[in-house]
Amino acid sequence: MEINSSKVLIIDFGSQYTQLIARKIRESGVYCEIYPFSTPVKKIKDFGPSALVLSGGPSSVYDKNAPLVPKELFDLNIPFLGICYGMQLMAYLFSGAVEPAKNREYGHSKLQITHNSKLFEGCNPAAVWMSHGDLIVVPPQGFVVTSATENCAAASFENVEKKLYGLQFHPEVAHTVCGRRILENFLFGVAGFKKNWKISDIIKEKISDIERMVNGGKVVCALSGGVDSTVAAVLAHKAINGRLTCIFVDNGLLRENEGNNILKFYRENLHLKVKFVKAGKVFLNSLKGVKNPEKKRKIIGKLFINIFENEAKKIKGARYLIQGTLYPDVIESIPVYGASSVIKSHHNVGGLPKKLNLKLIEPLRELFKDEVRKIGNKLDIPSEIIERQPFPGPGLAVRIMGDITAARLNILRKADLIVTDEIKKSGLYNDLWQSFPVLVPVKTVGVMGDKRSYESVIALRAVKSSDGMTADFAEIDYDVLRKISSRIISEIKGVNRVVYDISSKPPSTIEWE
Ligand code: XMP
Repeated sequence: MEINSSKVLIIDFGSQYTQLIARKIRESGVYCEIYPFSTPVKKIKDFGPSALVLSGGPSSVYDKNAPLVPKELFDLNIPFLGICYGMQLMAYLFSGAVEPAKNREYGHSKLQITHNSKLFEGCNPAAVWMSHGDLIVVPPQGFVVTSATENCAAASFENVEKKLYGLQFHPEVAHTVCGRRILENFLFGVAGFKKNWKISDIIKEKISDIERMVNGGKVVCALSGGVDSTVAAVLAHKAINGRLTCIFVDNGLLRENEGNNILKFYRENLHLKVKFVKAGKVFLNSLKGVKNPEKKRKIIGKLFINIFENEAKKIKGARYLIQGTLYPDVIESIPVYGASSVIKSHHNVGGLPKKLNLKLIEPLRELFKDEVRKIGNKLDIPSEIIERQPFPGPGLAVRIMGDITAARLNILRKADLIVTDEIKKSGLYNDLWQSFPVLVPVKTVGVMGDKRSYESVIALRAVKSSDGMTADFAEIDYDVLRKISSRIISEIKGVNRVVYDISSKPPSTIEWE
């Protein structure tokens, strides 16, 4: 796709908020991408940014291995906005002084504007979100301090002549009053951008891109029922119609009636050509007796690839594989929580193109999920799909602790129907990133109709999140919890207790396995 030449580049120093900066900038109508701090200057120049944002990060500029950028980057002579660590780095590179703060600031702070600045035009950011241990004690020569908080004498600074701006606080975080206005003042007031990134405008471009890339060839696609693969398939369908064949593998780990419902929907509403592969038995057999979460994931992932490969080979002349990969999966992320060790082997189809000798087409690879949802809306994909909460590739297998059997799947499916029904009735469904039950391999004693019972526990998980990378447990009304619990216990044989998971991510994860 031809990206507009007027765009922002965000240099990532490992902040948990970097993607948030990108999303805010795009929402303001300006295209941007994220590159890691280690990117060579030549590559940055080749990208051709019209402004640069230096993100926050967990390091100190004086750390032995502090992430730095060469000073020659500033020779680009374009506007720079440094946020938190990005501002400290700017101070450090221009010979100011940065020191550990006596009083670290985390959370809300009161801000006082001390000098007129374009960044604060038309707004008064009285409350800002801070998250820093270091601060700038001496601004570099030529820089003017424009605001302060009680514990931070240089909460923002600027060198108007050189077009360099720094904010110690985070304008991208919702808690900063008029944070969006500050970012827009930088984009439109300082850097002179025009609003020219509109997600709906790119649909036509995407369709003609696919047409051009495929050039008369045949394409296969793996559908999952989720928004990303559906939007990718519908775009391809519009581009090449009958030359697209979708493959939908029912692994038997889906929710109640999910396979059939989705298939009907794909065929009747979206008019896609879908090969339906019913493989529940094969998956269940391979998972027999497997309790280890990583083993489960590996077995499911491998089996999926084998089945898909078999089916794809039957489509004569297929040369391309279309995938709904999103931008967060593409960004070379900087590990904030230390290790880049494998926490969970995510189920994806990454191994497919190599094995099948297919060329990969990823029409959504520079987009965020909310942007893909907007495209889906414009393509008239119904909200049942667009607004669906994410569902993991390995399905209910990672929500059944211990053995996966038909009987245990049955219990979890029933619980899932109740949870989804009650969450939808309460109006919470779209506010929550995910809400689902988990079957715990523990039996507890209860009393039902004057008799002792000894049955399973269902844990309820409901989280709020913007991207699944971090999450907070949702503060669901007790009445809703009570209704879910009493329905599960009275309607599902084999369950006599429901508990609510009150852990956040990190340190927990969203799925239990
Ligand atoms: P965790 O459990 O790692 O999950 O906090 C983060 C988000 O990713 C989803 N998830 C998966 N999605 N394949 C997927 O497509 C997977 O293997 C997988 N595992 C977890 C999870 O539902 C949550 O939204």
